[in-house]
Amino acid sequence: MPSKQVFESKDGAVYTTSNGAPVSEPYAAQRVGFHGPLLLQDFHHIDLLAHFDRERIPERVVHAKGAGCHGYFEATHDLSDITSNKLLTSPGKKVRATVRWSTVGGESGSADTARDPRGFAIKLKTDEGNWDWVFNNTPVFFIRDPAKFPHFIHTQKRDPQTHLKDPDAFWDYLSQNPESIHQIMILFSDRGTPNGYHQMHGYSGHTFKWFKEDGSFVYTQVHVRVDKGFKTLSDAEAGELSGSNPDYGIQSLFEAIESGNYPSYICYVQTMTPEQAEKFRYNVLDLTKVWPHKEFPLRPFGKIVFNENVQNYFAEIEQSAFSPSHLVPYIEPSADPVLQSRLFSYPDTHRHRLGTNYQQLPVNAPIVPVANFQRDGPATFISQGARPNYQSTIQPLTYSGRAGTLEGGCRDKERELKHENYIGAAYRDLSEITELDFEQPRALWSKVWNDQQREAYVQNVAGHFKNVKSAEVKARQLSVWAAVDQDLSDRIAKAVGAPTVKPLKAKSAQEAVNFRHNIGLASNF
Ligand code: HEM
Repeated sequence: MPSKQVFESKDGAVYTTSNGAPVSEPYAAQRVGFHGPLLLQDFHHIDLLAHFDRERIPERVVHAKGAGCHGYFEATHDLSDITSNKLLTSPGKKVRATVRWSTVGGESGSADTARDPRGFAIKLKTDEGNWDWVFNNTPVFFIRDPAKFPHFIHTQKRDPQTHLKDPDAFWDYLSQNPESIHQIMILFSDRGTPNGYHQMHGYSGHTFKWFKEDGSFVYTQVHVRVDKGFKTLSDAEAGELSGSNPDYGIQSLFEAIESGNYPSYICYVQTMTPEQAEKFRYNVLDLTKVWPHKEFPLRPFGKIVFNENVQNYFAEIEQSAFSPSHLVPYIEPSADPVLQSRLFSYPDTHRHRLGTNYQQLPVNAPIVPVANFQRDGPATFISQGARPNYQSTIQPLTYSGRAGTLEGGCRDKERELKHENYIGAAYRDLSEITELDFEQPRALWSKVWNDQQREAYVQNVAGHFKNVKSAEVKARQLSVWAAVDQDLSDRIAKAVGAPTVKPLKAKSAQEAVNFRHNIGLASNF
């Protein structure tokens, strides 16, 4: 191949085939004569088309649209009184962090400013493996029974026949499942339209358990609070940007980092002992509820700075794979059933979306060596060399002390099991609605928000809710709002020209609290 015809790019790279051979003419297919058919021997051309045909991987089934970058997490406090996790007990220790923010319902080309919760997923590359925080920008969620998740998500996806979004389906679902109302209060406030991706808080939402060496634990909730305050858009601004710049969030993040205006955050933890959980008014495993800050104050433990734009979006963000089950020593999931389901769902979808060896992709690969008995499979590119693929006595893998040994059993041995006992009632419906479900939404409406925020909420809801065609769905959802506050419901009814309705009936708060306390365990719904 004549070297002077070789194409060179600005970094001096020479254009090659995928097997690395220089190519003299990338824009030409080999053919017979001037007008003849193409040649099967033209590997460059066939490989080019074949690779192009396979460029797309499945988009995320939810959270398909997003933006991301890199930076670091720094531990700022010693939390050894509540956990023995190495990172959280090493103030000053910094680890690399990758973040991906996202909207939830839309496709990968949808608008960044859609009214939707936002995903806030961070991968921390610690010395003890990757620790993923797969958070949202709201402290609560729509469901507490995970079996509802696919159904609820379907109501925001396209109708099977019309291929259109269907407001009736959305509100039909919500009005039948009123435990969603707390999230609906937040979603239709201005927090439902954040200003870009990086100017908002993130919340674990779920309760986790942070352990100490002696087996004791506290329940925790993590809050990641943006230093410069949670910035939002009005409904009108968000709507306008959806049309004029659907990639507003991606662009403002990229530009902020390029100009040195790095987004930064303080990380806080709320803690609750098992004893406190027994007495807590709400179920500690119910992620439709928040833990009041007064009762469970925010305790700082770290800071995060995102200061590095990606070089290649696909490799570094699209291929990132976050999972709430990617945990590190002394950090464990609680028995929250939604969290428990997520522990399965994310790695499952990653194997489908990215392949069985998704953990070996550079953005996902831990910085510490991985040693186990997983081998082979498509796209194995980090090998474990000659190490045996079973627990051999000749070259055995050793187990970390905390996790026990083959003889010594596992770490559960030392744990305080009291708060996890199985106490019967194997099946309990998590959908039961009680007065407890309306207390926190009511506090938002009547205590937290001012007049202007109340009016914005009514207008934001009305803008969407007015599109519902079914009178039955409208009345049912209005009865949910009436259970929060009659005035709230009446104002929305007026704004959409619907008749006013009475509150739906729910079991009393006292009965619900008594029931749970009589059963004796906060971990049982
Ligand atoms: C993304 C399932 C609830 C936060 C996803 C994905 C699935 C999923 C399948 C796509 C992941 C991927 O392709 O990489 C579920 C299920 C849930 C649930 C089954 C409940 C049963 C939640 C909750 C939160 C959350 C409660 C937050 C507290 C996220 C985030 C992403 C995501 C942040 C995007 C991660 C990324 O940027 O790659 N979820 N989810 N999800 N979910 Fe959930």
